[in-house]
Amino acid sequence: MSLKRCYNIDDLRIRAKKKLPAPMFHYIDGGADDEWTLRRNTSAFEQYQLLPRYLNDISRVDLSTRVLDSDLRMPLLLSPTGMSRLFHHHKELGAARAADKHGLLYSLSTMATTSLEDVAAATTGPKMFQIYIFKDRELTRELVQRCKKAGYKALCLTVDTAVAGNRERDHRHGMTMPPRITPSSFFSYATSFEWLFNLLRDPDFRLANVAHRVDALGNGAMGLIEYVNSQFDRSVTWEDAAWLAEQWQGPFVIKGMSTVEDAKLAVSIGATAAMLSNHGGRQLDGCPSPIETVAPIRDAIGNQLELIVDGGIRRGTHVLKALALGANACSIGRPYLYGLAAGGEAGVDRALTLLHDEIARSLNLLGCTSVSELGPQHVRQLNVA
Ligand code: FNR
Repeated sequence: MSLKRCYNIDDLRIRAKKKLPAPMFHYIDGGADDEWTLRRNTSAFEQYQLLPRYLNDISRVDLSTRVLDSDLRMPLLLSPTGMSRLFHHHKELGAARAADKHGLLYSLSTMATTSLEDVAAATTGPKMFQIYIFKDRELTRELVQRCKKAGYKALCLTVDTAVAGNRERDHRHGMTMPPRITPSSFFSYATSFEWLFNLLRDPDFRLANVAHRVDALGNGAMGLIEYVNSQFDRSVTWEDAAWLAEQWQGPFVIKGMSTVEDAKLAVSIGATAAMLSNHGGRQLDGCPSPIETVAPIRDAIGNQLELIVDGGIRRGTHVLKALALGANACSIGRPYLYGLAAGGEAGVDRALTLLHDEIARSLNLLGCTSVSELGPQHVRQLNVA
């Protein structure tokens, strides 16, 4: 199936599955424990119906949106995802360039395989850096300073990863970083010819934003992933988040939120936005899907925070439902990673084009010409569990 014959995000997923060694595909695709939350992130959209109004003049369509002090051509962000080199040699640059082409905001993960400076140098659109508060606060402070210098627009603190989620597919398929052939993964590596060929061309899987720290420890010191894992700090609190917002002094996002109580705390520390997210079902299995949390959080906090729905978005109609329920924008992880794995930068471009066209078409079918018109009158919740 060529990229052109991928007609929706699920087609890109199927193409990604064909191209990637099994450990890499399941690392993208999988979730924690029983993957209930992973499935629910998308299936919960079925609880909501869209209510179209007809015989409006819909001769134009305007998807433009302003979030995080940035003008976007449609209400979509690219979520931070670590280690993109595992999926394609275009890695983070391929995704960031495609985001630029579509006038969108790209979020770079601390765990990226491209440095924040290289992404900034290769792109012009607004960028957000996703950060952790590490045990070594100096490392966090250093990343903040580098982001300021490189011109990042926003900073995003991920709060749902103090402990690693239990992703059984990674164990089952022999996922390692850097990639290592194991008995369970030998066959799938051996038959992923294109991926293997590109591995030989560019075998650099280092976590580019933090690698210098490990290099400084000298030979024989712990590996990079071990080092980063050792830096996750389980004692981080809202006071530390406030400290980070103070360091940054710009649009500040808390990513990984499901409750009204946490949204109120985000308001109290002066956050600009909350990413309603459960890490794409990769952390706590059993927590609510982001779409279910929008309306209660919007009701409780009014307009004190921008709300970004992150998780489960696979269709343009999902974005419209989120906006009608009170979100300012949505964010996607796997949809663009499937595109990246399916065809590098062109694959991400295809994912964004498909979603753009779906959002525009469905907005018109709903009887609207602009995403700013969307409101509770366009959505109804069904009485199902
Ligand atoms: C992620 N996600 C993530 N989040 C984050 O804050 N830092 C990170 O480094 C990563 N890495 C990462 C890798 C991969 C392979 C995936 C699939 C996800 C979570 C991501 O930002 C986002 O919250 C989810 O992907 C959203 O759900 P969907 O769109 O994938 O359903």
